[in-house]
Amino acid sequence: MDRIRIVGGNQLHGVIPISGAKNAALPLMIASLLTDDTLTLENVPHLADVEQLIRILGNHGADISVNGRRERQGESYARTIHFTSRNIVSTTAPYELVSKMRASFWVIGPLLAREGKARVSLPGGCAIGTRPVDLFIEGLTALGANIEIDGGYVNATAPEGGLTGGRYVFPKVSVGATHVLMMAATLANGTTVIGNAAREPEVADLAKCLNAMGARITGAGTGTITIEGVRSLSGARHRVLPDRIETGTYAMAVAMTGGDVILEDTEASLLDTALEAIRRAGAEISETNSGIRVVRNGAGIRPVDIVTDPFPGFPTDLQAQFMGLMTKSSGVSHITETIFENRFMHVQELARLGAKISLSGQTAKIEGVGRLKGAPVMATDLRASVSLVIAGLAAEGETMVSRVYHLDRGFERLEEKLTRCGAHVERVSD
Ligand code: UD1
Repeated sequence: MDRIRIVGGNQLHGVIPISGAKNAALPLMIASLLTDDTLTLENVPHLADVEQLIRILGNHGADISVNGRRERQGESYARTIHFTSRNIVSTTAPYELVSKMRASFWVIGPLLAREGKARVSLPGGCAIGTRPVDLFIEGLTALGANIEIDGGYVNATAPEGGLTGGRYVFPKVSVGATHVLMMAATLANGTTVIGNAAREPEVADLAKCLNAMGARITGAGTGTITIEGVRSLSGARHRVLPDRIETGTYAMAVAMTGGDVILEDTEASLLDTALEAIRRAGAEISETNSGIRVVRNGAGIRPVDIVTDPFPGFPTDLQAQFMGLMTKSSGVSHITETIFENRFMHVQELARLGAKISLSGQTAKIEGVGRLKGAPVMATDLRASVSLVIAGLAAEGETMVSRVYHLDRGFERLEEKLTRCGAHVERVSD
């Protein structure tokens, strides 16, 4: 199993190209099941989760072709992928495939809308909380679906004549359930209104693509989304938006190690709250023509309190990385996690590097230490694993991160991007 070896202490200087967003690419790929035409997605990141979803879509009958091409003189491996689901050959998403990645559960929306039925295994994914599916079930039921859970599978059927438009107000914000309800409603009879919808940029990106396919969606990116159902959707070509979590992760890495880096092909507006927190911690952040410049020269890291929240709040997917940054601050900071109940598994691993963190319920208290010291650590989930990498970059000596398959799910060519900026990071295969 691969491990990542880091020798800390180097500042980061250079350019890091930001990939297409994993969390946008996955629902966009799933949306291809809504049409018998070809959906072409550009800027798709090369990640284990994308490969896994390609297998899942193939199981439903999608014909998928990949045109790898280098862009910007070898700076990026962004891929263009064509998805054609002329016929759906299976409406079952089996346990063996769905258990590996929670987002694969989302095929339930398109399958139900297009074929009138879906049998989808209850999901897996990162072990960061219980992550139930009640909101998906309630939302689809509001569109007329009949849903039963049996033997670890969710069996959903639409009434004769298909789903009908409805009104559903989420009792709690869910990104995935918003994606699914929006996709299902595109082919329903009549109009659907989703209240308390997730406002994440990835939801707006999905709506933009669905509209290019002929859907009639307004309000995506706000708390109320209205979808007028249409009879069918066509193909389209769409470019996946930049990965705001990858952007924030590298910005925090620079804030932690010091240095001067341009994060290319990304947009500050995708992560205002996180960038503001990094600024308050002491980094200078400015927008450039092609992205964002992050600089920290000499200034110490200041303690900053944050609370995770749905967009536009501080993203839970950057919480572990920000905690890494705070371990080296000059004082005491507090981080409160409100989205997932078990998302502090990085705490004990950061402690192995010398961090001083105590937990009280959903709040972590971080007492900054001047120095971190390299140690062997274990990745526990996708975002936690990258927090260990950036902490390792700022620690003295060698840090060996094991279980890096978590990283490969969500960070494209991490070692290469960091190494080009002067970091000492390498993959070690046993
Ligand atoms: C997505 C992101 C993930 C991010 C998360 C929150 C993708 C592929 N993944 O995950 O990286 O951390 O948003 O920003 O885009 N919940 C319920 N019942 C449900 C559904 C969700 O109680 O039926 C709860 C969850 O347990 C969690 C909260 O709602 O506490 C938010 O989860 P949700 O927004 O659905 O996360 P995902 O879409 O799975």
